Amino acid sequence: MAISAIILAGGMGSRMQSTLAKQFLPLGNKLVIEYCLEVFFTLPEIKEVIVVCDTAYRHLLSSYPIKFASPGPRRQDSLYQGLQQATSPWICIHDAARPFITQKILKDLFEAGKETGAATLALPIVSTVKQSHEMLVEKTLDRSVLWEAQTPQFLSHALLVQGFAYTQQHNLTVTDDVMFAELLGHPTKLVKGISKNIKLTTPEDFALAQAWCSL
Ligand code: C5P
Repeated sequence: MAISAIILAGGMGSRMQSTLAKQFLPLGNKLVIEYCLEVFFTLPEIKEVIVVCDTAYRHLLSSYPIKFASPGPRRQDSLYQGLQQATSPWICIHDAARPFITQKILKDLFEAGKETGAATLALPIVSTVKQSHEMLVEKTLDRSVLWEAQTPQFLSHALLVQGFAYTQQHNLTVTDDVMFAELLGHPTKLVKGISKNIKLTTPEDFALAQAWCSL
């Protein structure tokens, strides 16, 4: 199976209260983005790695054999830019702000995804989730059927291209990558992820990640 990895690192991370984008902050002895890059480079299925980031950050990754693409205004626009560089029949998309992925979860994801054409890592929801309107509870959702999506996500190249055509035609915004498959009515497999695969969003997340790195 030949896979192109697209690492999304084009966001500014405004909730981190830092002038440097969060995925390029130092964490332990390397940058946040390097944690996921190192895992991707250990897998023989990964034929190329494409990092979508601003040109100002590219020199920080000069020791890696990667292709670059320029970010767009929305996450899906950044993915579109990355996809233009991708040459493999399978695409694995990952947020650079999630450093703690493992070889095992990637392999589980690829295994599940190749059966249906689309798969995402996700965790069962443990909290009770309320749907709201103007700060009033509308209803409580049935958490036994709810999952929180993570990245990496995995789709066939052809399905992603079809998904982009559909969202462009209907002027839709998606918040993750398997939504392209869902919108086309294509089955998307859930693969149980790991709770350590957090997205570094706030300074508190960063403090937790630093504590893990110093264990
Ligand atoms: O903002 P959020 O944390 O949801 O972004 C998820 C990932 O998508 C991050 O790694 C961020 O760098 C990336 N992103 C991007 N281009 C954008 C917005 C977000 O590459 N326009």
